[in-house]
Amino acid sequence: MKWLKRIFGISETPLPGNDAGWNVANQSITIDLNQMPELASPGSAVRLEGKGLPVRTLVVHGKDGDFHAFANRCTHMGRRIDILPGTDHIECCSVSKSTFDYGGQPLGGAAKKPLRVFAVTLSDNELTIQLT
Ligand code: FES
Repeated sequence: MKWLKRIFGISETPLPGNDAGWNVANQSITIDLNQMPELASPGSAVRLEGKGLPVRTLVVHGKDGDFHAFANRCTHMGRRIDILPGTDHIECCSVSKSTFDYGGQPLGGAAKKPLRVFAVTLSDNELTIQLT
């Protein structure tokens, strides 16, 4: 029923199972990777929403081994985005399936503008994502 999920724009990416693993303050997100198993391996992702976040955010542990963060809003019509399993691409969850690279640049589909990409730093197993 994946096509039905696409029609309704339902994301495949999980929310955190443990909400204590992340926080928002001063226009930045901090994630304790010890408490975020969703990001344990390259080729995984989690979506962060709520907690006063100014913009819903997709956090990706990339196939390249690095962490990446994006405003979770496709630049075509604003649907949520997911990782495209088995690739180093991001894909919109809608029927138009716009794809992007880790730099947020559009690769295919209806979206022509880049995703909003946030700076990510890693220190002592803690990720910090700057939302400005
Ligand atoms: S909203 Fe993403 S391709 Fe249309």
